[in-house]
Amino acid sequence: MADQTYDYDVLVIGAGPGGYVAAIRAAQLGLKTACAESRDTLGGTCLNVGCIPSKALLHGSELFDEANGHMAKWGIKAPKVELDLGTMMGEKSKAVKELTGGIEFLFKKNKVEWLKGRAAFEDAHTVTVDGKSVTAKDIVIATGSSVTPLPGIDVDNDGGRIVDSTGALKLDQVPEHLVVIGGGVIGLELGSVWRRLGAKVTVVEYLDQLLPGMDGDVRKEAAKIFKKQGMDLKLQTKVTGAKDTVKGVTLTVEPADGGESSTIEASHVLVSIGRRPNVEGLNLHAIGLEQNKRGQIETHHDFRTAVDGVWAIGDVIPGPMLAHKAEDEGIAVAENIAGQTGIVNHDLIPSVVYTMPEMAGVGLTEEEAKEDGRKIKTGKFPMMANSRAKTNREPEGFVKVIADAETDRVLGVWCINALAGTMIAQATQAMEFGTTAEDIAYTCHAHPTHSEALKEAAMLVNGSAIHI
Ligand code: FAD
Ligand code: NAI
Repeated sequence: MADQTYDYDVLVIGAGPGGYVAAIRAAQLGLKTACAESRDTLGGTCLNVGCIPSKALLHGSELFDEANGHMAKWGIKAPKVELDLGTMMGEKSKAVKELTGGIEFLFKKNKVEWLKGRAAFEDAHTVTVDGKSVTAKDIVIATGSSVTPLPGIDVDNDGGRIVDSTGALKLDQVPEHLVVIGGGVIGLELGSVWRRLGAKVTVVEYLDQLLPGMDGDVRKEAAKIFKKQGMDLKLQTKVTGAKDTVKGVTLTVEPADGGESSTIEASHVLVSIGRRPNVEGLNLHAIGLEQNKRGQIETHHDFRTAVDGVWAIGDVIPGPMLAHKAEDEGIAVAENIAGQTGIVNHDLIPSVVYTMPEMAGVGLTEEEAKEDGRKIKTGKFPMMANSRAKTNREPEGFVKVIADAETDRVLGVWCINALAGTMIAQATQAMEFGTTAEDIAYTCHAHPTHSEALKEAAMLVNGSAIHI
């Protein structure tokens, strides 16, 4: 039964993985719930211009790559593999439409009201959406994030040569030479898509390694793998300017710590240097809610902000900008608003790079564990010695287990292999239950599977594995 003082018990701003999940869970818990979303479709960045379309193109381009090379190794020879980019883009759009439509169905099923339009605060219990004032006892900010712009480089996602991830997901031709600025997750996933489809790809990364945040061994191995796949990596390099001409883009680059500049001629440029929280236009001043130095909204562990009745989750608050983190926070915030105890274990948020092979990890990196002053022991098992990976002719990568030297408790698991994204779920679950390396080593793993590499890496932590 709704509190009669307000139009709704809960109003969620933003219908991304954080917001739509929070709204559905709140409604399931008996709260009268609305969700304000300004896009034409629900699902936020993830479903519209993020996780889903990028994974569709990663899948399609992987099939093309397989047909063009790997399959021939198995004696499957396609005389001439042709790319129909329009059809591939069509499949991607269909997946997006089905999934965003699915959220609309779930809203109806759970009686969540979609308020179409941009929301701005009037006070802590009132927002304006599309010119109308609505009130709620509790308001959840789940406005997500947008691409961080690179000063001096103008993005045009509608047919331009310089794009961000949104434009790179809908190019109507395979670029001749795609220069990716930023060797993080987006740059490497979307760089992989276009490389597989025939583009020359150069990655310009400011730091001396790719994939910040991942374990050092993964970062080193990733660079080797992407180079072998044909990507040109320019590490410790910064872009200082871009001249967009009819024929292409001339980028000026120089060493990160200064030095002689040079130019790179690109047909297209992808700017992927990170994302920043969406707070513009929310009128946070009206409720006296401050942002931290990174523009994020700080919350307590239960997702309460400094303003009574206002909560925040997802990309707009600190932590990794990942859909599953936002979703789990969505469930937890709804449960907390309903008077239950919603908790997210932020120490165990897995991350996955969906390239081929996949790269994934959970918990502490070896570097973080050492910086923490912990005594650790590690076990690293190469996929080359895993029977299934060898049989499938996928020898690249490894599984690495990091454990506390005294207690044997697993602190982190990092891996590169064809099924790393799936494998990391097992590691996360085991760590959630406080697993030791010995526990994993003595758990029976089906044979022949890639997962046996996790068991053998755990065996290596305390002695020797069988297959190396
Ligand atoms: P968002 O998904 O950004 O949703 C926020 C919503 O709020 C938006 O729809 C926006 O329109 C709306 N909004 C904002 N302000 C207002 C307002 N004032 N009024 C009304 N509505 C408003 N993560 C993964 O875990 N796995 C992946 O494979 C993955 N791939 C990605 C690929 C790309 C190319 C990108 C860009 C991101 C990817 N991410 C991935 C990250 C993931 O998309 C985000 O972490 C996730 O979407 C965050 O969810 P959110 O609910 O916090 O915000
Ligand atoms: P990112 O933070 O992963 O990588 C950005 C990279 O750009 C970093 O390596 C950084 O050092 C580099 N960089 C920054 N400024 C630069 C400059 N001026 N010149 C050259 N390099 C520069 O950010 P990205 O790739 O844009 O992704 C944004 C977010 O989206 C990430 O936080 C990620 O969590 C999420 N995402 C997740 C995916 C997944 O889970 N598979 C897929 C895609 C995105």
